[in-house]
Amino acid sequence: MLIDSHCHLSHNDYENVLDIINNMKDNIMIVSGADYESNIDVVDLCKRYDNIYGVLGIHPTEITDNIEEHLKYIEEHINDKHIVGIGEIGLDYHYECNKDLQKEIFIRQIKLALKYQKPIVIHTRDAIQDTYDILNSENAYQVNVTIHCFSESLEMAKLFIKKGAKLGIGGIVTFKNAKKTVDVVQNIDLKHILLETDSPYLAPEPLRGTKNEPKNVYLVAKKIAEIKNMDIADVIEITTSNSKTQFDLK
Ligand code: NI
Repeated sequence: MLIDSHCHLSHNDYENVLDIINNMKDNIMIVSGADYESNIDVVDLCKRYDNIYGVLGIHPTEITDNIEEHLKYIEEHINDKHIVGIGEIGLDYHYECNKDLQKEIFIRQIKLALKYQKPIVIHTRDAIQDTYDILNSENAYQVNVTIHCFSESLEMAKLFIKKGAKLGIGGIVTFKNAKKTVDVVQNIDLKHILLETDSPYLAPEPLRGTKNEPKNVYLVAKKIAEIKNMDIADVIEITTSNSKTQFDLK
């Protein structure tokens, strides 16, 4: 059994989400919210499918004027069926943005996770140092922390692991120019790694450029097995167990 530890399945992401879910029969998906609408979809999917779990959160680039209402929705549904964490939350400085506002909303969602003792899923882009510092200063590691779509240096990977974080590895590891991520996978014990797709984004090779879907998590497992010179069955078994523990899946 495979677990895609991070994907998006909102009605905005796919025309026919049912096909996508059917393709993951006997496997598990952890669906991530990013804004108000996708959080509503996550709550709904978690209610309807035994093999779908979800995390709720406001992505740093999705902070709108209605943020208070959106945060309230997350708190109201944090103990719903199959809701297993807060995410994806974090910092994204890639485009011009209000860094102080991003930090404030990030911290408030960390506090929410700590209040309800729920795991956190982190998005970080061009903001690794601030992300690292805030997780430390907010004592975020009292709950399980996953750095989703990890694509930073090996040095940074080691720092996060030392804190107890897990690293989500997705399609990027299959890309030709992914030296950094390959280096991380090569040198980090598999017990710190979760498989993910970040569907509908970042389709792995040989499907790069197409719309990604959770079943492609198999291609990520295959690439990791190659890099680590392991049996793919062992990669799947270990990473599935990691995700189950990280999100306390029953
Ligand atoms: Ni994502």
